[in-house]
Amino acid sequence: MSILTILHHPDPRLRQNARPVTTFDSDLQRLIEDMFETMYDAPGVGLAATQIGVDLRLAVMDCSDERTSPIVMVNPELSNFRELEKLDEGCLSVPDVQDQVPRYNRVHLKALDRQGKPFELEASGLLAQCMQHELDHLDGKLFIDHLSWLKRDRIRKKLSRKRRSD
Ligand code: NI
Repeated sequence: MSILTILHHPDPRLRQNARPVTTFDSDLQRLIEDMFETMYDAPGVGLAATQIGVDLRLAVMDCSDERTSPIVMVNPELSNFRELEKLDEGCLSVPDVQDQVPRYNRVHLKALDRQGKPFELEASGLLAQCMQHELDHLDGKLFIDHLSWLKRDRIRKKLSRKRRSD
């Protein structure tokens, strides 16, 4: 297994609309293992393939306190959105930025597992939030896109200051 490099905003690869996964081979299994290792190491609760420059509709998540509930979602679709609320959010691709983003508190997930087998899941709370965040990545969106222009401008300035000082 290896730790992958996570792309940072404003890398244009984060803006790609990812392609569906069609092949469930050993390369895909290795990619998933590497994505989990990268996510746990970061540490983060979710990582989308888009964030490591891989053009596939695939994300890994673990929203448990003990970090013992890994979930893989391939070609995910969300429905039955319920109860919109504003929740604190951050992203490994937008370092040192946190803000409140409107997300649904409950969603229904339809996806394929790592072997290509369909499954469905009712999610609430942090897991529901994480699913919406990761699906956004696969559509080339970042959580800061949900913020006001003024806030996004402030984040842009902060990140370019940070890049200069790195
Ligand atoms: Ni993210």
